[in-house]
Amino acid sequence: MPGLIRTDTIPFPWLNHMSTPIIRRLPDPESVSQAAAEEFIRLAAECISARGKFTVALAGGSTPKRMYQLLGSAGYKERVNWARVEFFWGDERCVPSTHADSNFRMANEAFLQSLPICSPQIHRMQAEREDRDQAAEDYQAEIARVFGVYSNGQPPAFDLILVGMGGDGHTLSLFPHTAALSESTRWVVANRVEKLQTFRLTFTVPMLNRASNVLFCVAGADKAIPLVEVLEGPADGNRLPSQRSLAGQGVLTWLVDEAAARELKAK
Ligand code: 6PG
Repeated sequence: MPGLIRTDTIPFPWLNHMSTPIIRRLPDPESVSQAAAEEFIRLAAECISARGKFTVALAGGSTPKRMYQLLGSAGYKERVNWARVEFFWGDERCVPSTHADSNFRMANEAFLQSLPICSPQIHRMQAEREDRDQAAEDYQAEIARVFGVYSNGQPPAFDLILVGMGGDGHTLSLFPHTAALSESTRWVVANRVEKLQTFRLTFTVPMLNRASNVLFCVAGADKAIPLVEVLEGPADGNRLPSQRSLAGQGVLTWLVDEAAARELKAK
């Protein structure tokens, strides 16, 4: 794949395994959302058929909202066996679930509340709790319970982790030069984000890179520079946390619109 990062000159253990990302360039944000919804449907059918369950971690921010709305609409909704889907979040803001900034609220209003599912299928990150570290630990225990694994071992493999990328190259709530980037054992942590003057709860790099499928949805001209740096620039995973995904064990797919892809060499 042109533009991939060479690994023989990089002293970063986390880059000792490289996945070859699939990069799909789409005309505009709507086609990114449609392609993401189709990928969700395809993976859900595949996983449910193989193991009777589909485990997905939803992304926050604004980009995935349209994809969620599509999944909850006619032409999409009827194509998923929703009773077999376990919904998690890859990160959450430290606000109540009713707050305008809540990733849970955004997904719930965009599609979850309209789906034929039961509340036990929805595993919300309780990031509003005062003891954020305990909330992160409890979320890790919840993941372990649903996957049927011990919560002190290596992370289980989500069928799909949906993620976006910020204009500073962050993903999930793994922001540049923050402590969570060096977490090597926990699956979920509370992360202090100085630039936002706030804390977030977030999946860690080990959790992200265990996933069977990681799907980035990136749209907009403001993402063009960080995108080309992440995909075609030198390894700099502390300044560009999204780059850490390149060391993942699963299938890594980037759905990008032309505005975000305009600097890429890869056509
Ligand atoms: C969040 C997200 C975050 C998001 C990026 C991109 O909680 O905000 O997890 O990582 O995916 O910031 O956000 P946009 O989709 O709004 O550009």
